[in-house]
Amino acid sequence: MESWGFVPETFRSGAARLPAPWEDLFGPLRAGAVDDIVAVGQIGQSLDGRIATPTGHSHYINGPAGLDHLHRLRALADAVVVGIGTALADDPQLTVRRVAGPQPARAVIDPGGRLPGGARLLAADGVRRIVIAAAGVRPPLPPDIEVVPLPKAGGRIAPAAILKALAERGLRRILIEGGAETVSRFLAAGCLDRLHVVVAPIVLGSGRTGINLPPIERADQAMRMPMHVHRLDDEVLFDCDLSAQRVPVGRARKST
Ligand SMILES: NC(=O)c1ccc[n+]([C@@H]2O[C@H](COP(=O)([O-])OP(=O)(O)OC[C@H]3O[C@@H](n4cnc5c(N)ncnc54)[C@H](OP(=O)(O)O)[C@@H]3O)[C@@H](O)[C@H]2O)c1
Repeated sequence: MESWGFVPETFRSGAARLPAPWEDLFGPLRAGAVDDIVAVGQIGQSLDGRIATPTGHSHYINGPAGLDHLHRLRALADAVVVGIGTALADDPQLTVRRVAGPQPARAVIDPGGRLPGGARLLAADGVRRIVIAAAGVRPPLPPDIEVVPLPKAGGRIAPAAILKALAERGLRRILIEGGAETVSRFLAAGCLDRLHVVVAPIVLGSGRTGINLPPIERADQAMRMPMHVHRLDDEVLFDCDLSAQRVPVGRARKST
């Protein structure tokens, strides 16, 4: 697609609209509907709703257009967040490489201090790197890594506490990039403003499903939300508006 070059800069400016076709895709991520934090989850999945094979392999579920979209989301985010499952399975870099744009801070939710010091997302490249750990856990990491201790309740760190902690550190547009467990916990807690589901025209047939929420009895109890559909070459992006169920979290320290 054309004319991406100035979009990250315009996105962060006070300009009224992004140039076409980007306003429709990314305009809703510029300002929070509930507070000044914008949390967007992303999932790249197969037609049968899977985000990885049973072995945890997930590369190349999405094609070039889906991957470009993910890198654009990264370029517009202040921070990208993954769970420790993804950090260990994929050793992702979490950098913007496929499109032009600034690099977001990289954060991993690692309550038990399992992230190895050599993980690629910790690379010392001038970008902030943050490890969200359970209170009392001291991960053995280099001193330039910001460790954010947060309390665990019922075995989990509250997603709202994670967003609040990032916002207090000046990071207000947050991309929850995966994996399934992490995105599902943010969704269940009402801590996503949008969810971008990119469906690739493949069938994995087995493996991890993307969204897993507490069971409901009847289909009419399903979570429903307004949605926009976008074509990304041969993939389809479902941009789900979750602002109606988003819980208030607080204010960010800066609002650029
Ligand atoms: N297709 C895609 O879009 C996509 C994107 C990313 C990843 N993936 C794939 O997804 C798989 C990994 O997903 P996953 O669901 O296994 O793992 P994950 O979501 O990456 O990480 C889950 C773990 O992160 C920690 N965590 C996350 N949120 C937490 C919270 N609120 N409180 C406390 N701990 C929290 C927990 O660690 P502890 O267990 O230490 O408590 C949890 O078990 C990999 O196969 C990866 O390739 C696919």
